[in-house]
Amino acid sequence: MARYHAPGRVNLIGEHTDYAGGLVLPVAIDRGVTLTCLPAAGICLRSSADPARVEGFGRYVAALAEELEELGVGPAGIDGDIDSNLPIGAGLASSAALLVAAGMALNDAAGAELDPMALAGACRRAEERAVGVPCGIMDDAIAVLAEPGHALLLDCGTLAHRQVPLPPALGLVVVDSGTPRRLADTGYATRRGELERALAGDLDETTSRRLRHLRSENARVEAAAAALERGDVEELGAILAAGHASLRDDYEVSTPELDLLVALALDAGAWAARMTGGGFGGSIVALAPTDRCPAVAAGVAAGYRAATGRVTEPIVATAAAGARRLE
Ligand code: GLA
Repeated sequence: MARYHAPGRVNLIGEHTDYAGGLVLPVAIDRGVTLTCLPAAGICLRSSADPARVEGFGRYVAALAEELEELGVGPAGIDGDIDSNLPIGAGLASSAALLVAAGMALNDAAGAELDPMALAGACRRAEERAVGVPCGIMDDAIAVLAEPGHALLLDCGTLAHRQVPLPPALGLVVVDSGTPRRLADTGYATRRGELERALAGDLDETTSRRLRHLRSENARVEAAAAALERGDVEELGAILAAGHASLRDDYEVSTPELDLLVALALDAGAWAARMTGGGFGGSIVALAPTDRCPAVAAGVAAGYRAATGRVTEPIVATAAAGARRLE
């Protein structure tokens, strides 16, 4: 039996920029998908942890096997069990983690040596093939390229990238709003279409705001990478606040719950906070002093419950390594 692990991610800044060739700054977290499997004739997956989801998992991995075959990898199959400690549907890139872990397994089963970014590209296309979500490369790229203690500064147009060290005293708190979110059912494809119209020169009141977000967000990614390198947490707070406001007002992908969680995290002593991922629900990320993270997590959960009645279990996360074969 071989075991593969691929991490989920939070994105520090650079949201809804990847599919427009922009900049992103994600971090892999110490939660993800682990696949234990053997090479097989076809694709046969189980999930002792989450039996109800197996059908969906199978659809993604079957689409990936087809994408890999188009690259000359396979035909290959796997028979195995999926385990995950990453909340699904929380905007933490669980589908990319599943695809990247399965992609490594299929690559080994075929005896191939696909380079990590080629695997990431195949995973991105597989998601589009499986569920029709025209997502960008960010989630798959961070899952293959992450290094512990670092964020990844990635130019999604050229795929040029570099690792940005996180200040040692900086901790991550991830809070799921617990509101239902499935990219296939949300405005993700609509937003992408609006931005593409704007980039093609079709500017009206709405598409102009989408374009303003793209431009201001790309500048914020560069500023945030520089602030991280200087350890300037005050500046990070201002940049993430501006990023959240732009997603709320110009891109219109935030929700009242995400806005509330961001405010609660700042009240509880976080240096910076914003929604993370595609939005329309999902999670926020807060940056706080490592030793204050448990208190921020507890404060946000209590405030959220008091205001909405919803129970959330924040994750105090660390910046983890990318996908790997465990044994
Ligand atoms: C989702 C997509 C990513 C990216 C983000 C928004 O997570 O899968 O490719 O577009 O939304 O930044």
